[in-house]
Amino acid sequence: MRVAVAMFGFGNVGRFFAETISQKREILADRYGLEIVLTCVTDTTGAAVSAQGLDPGVLLDAKRSDGGAAYCPQYGQPGIDPRSALANARADIVVEATPTNMTTGEPGLSNIKLALSSGMHVATASKGALVLAYSELMQLAKERGLALKFAAAVASPLPTIELADFALQGCEIKSIDAILNATSNCILRSMETGAGTFEEALKDAQRRGVAEANPRLDVEGWDTSGKLVILTNALMGKVSLNEVERRGVDTVTPEMVKEARAEGKSIKLLGTARRVNGHLELRVVPVAVPPEHPLFAVNGIQKGISIDTDLAGRLTVIDGGAGPLATAQCVLRDVVNIARFHMR
Ligand SMILES: NC(=O)c1ccc[n+]([C@@H]2O[C@H](COP(=O)([O-])OP(=O)(O)OC[C@H]3O[C@@H](n4cnc5c(N)ncnc54)[C@H](OP(=O)(O)O)[C@@H]3O)[C@@H](O)[C@H]2O)c1
Repeated sequence: MRVAVAMFGFGNVGRFFAETISQKREILADRYGLEIVLTCVTDTTGAAVSAQGLDPGVLLDAKRSDGGAAYCPQYGQPGIDPRSALANARADIVVEATPTNMTTGEPGLSNIKLALSSGMHVATASKGALVLAYSELMQLAKERGLALKFAAAVASPLPTIELADFALQGCEIKSIDAILNATSNCILRSMETGAGTFEEALKDAQRRGVAEANPRLDVEGWDTSGKLVILTNALMGKVSLNEVERRGVDTVTPEMVKEARAEGKSIKLLGTARRVNGHLELRVVPVAVPPEHPLFAVNGIQKGISIDTDLAGRLTVIDGGAGPLATAQCVLRDVVNIARFHMR
């Protein structure tokens, strides 16, 4: 089956996605019978659009050498607006990979609404729209009979949402404890081991492509809060960003790290959602966790989630290391699963 994908955003994640569908063409065909074709890619220069399909190699060259999708030979369209680009792309699925903005949700919010109202499924890596309008967007998708997937937006490459969707049938989720932001975890590890200063660790995360375009989102705990809000909405009940008690790693001092170490503990930026007396309580704060905590061993670029349930007990998943390639795999995961379960 041919699956046409239009992608908003051609940065770290978008470029790895384009590269991955090209490199994994045979596996995708053999395992799932899918041919994934990019029919539109947008960035701040405009877009490249071809309903017949764009060559990922040519697109990546245009981005590298000329600075944007709009300079893709033959198919580049400088300054074209997303609506016109999408209308010409004839896509089945829209991938949203523009920067996250948790104040306005834009440009992701408009892009996702445009995609759903145009009858296209969505796989989003950006979080802002889901943080601000989770219920509205899910309702819109449901009314249109479309899928709105977001594996890449909630601590990629951890199978957070998939764990709940595919493994916890019948369970009530009592609590979520999670380390959801690789940049914060890198900074804390660096402070703990004395490998570098706060600023050096942040620069390293930026170099690896895991930091947000606006690093305040990482170090002030906004990114963790946003992911926690999305996960809680999906798994436990309706909550909003202003309900989260939030403190980021920018509030952690070397003395706090030293004190924790002296007690055999490790400071983590923990996101927690708990049901207390029928209400949901959300916190994102640095916590000195003891060695017996399920997320004690989650270090540096790793992330982890521990879900406590009534029927299945506690399940914990820890990833091997994040980055834009792993995030692109999450987007691919959503695209493949949309094609398998929503398009056939
Ligand atoms: N990087 C990761 O490891 C990771 C992990 C999980 C989730 N995410 C999420 O994935 C999304 C993309 O991350 P990234 O690292 O790929 O970001 P990025 O490198 O900053 O890329 C963003 C892309 O969006 C384009 N863009 C910016 N503003 C736009 C606008 N108004 N309209 C259209 N395109 C616009 C940029 O264009 P130009 O190229 O022309 O600047 C760029 O191509 C973010 O929302 C992030 O939170 C990232």
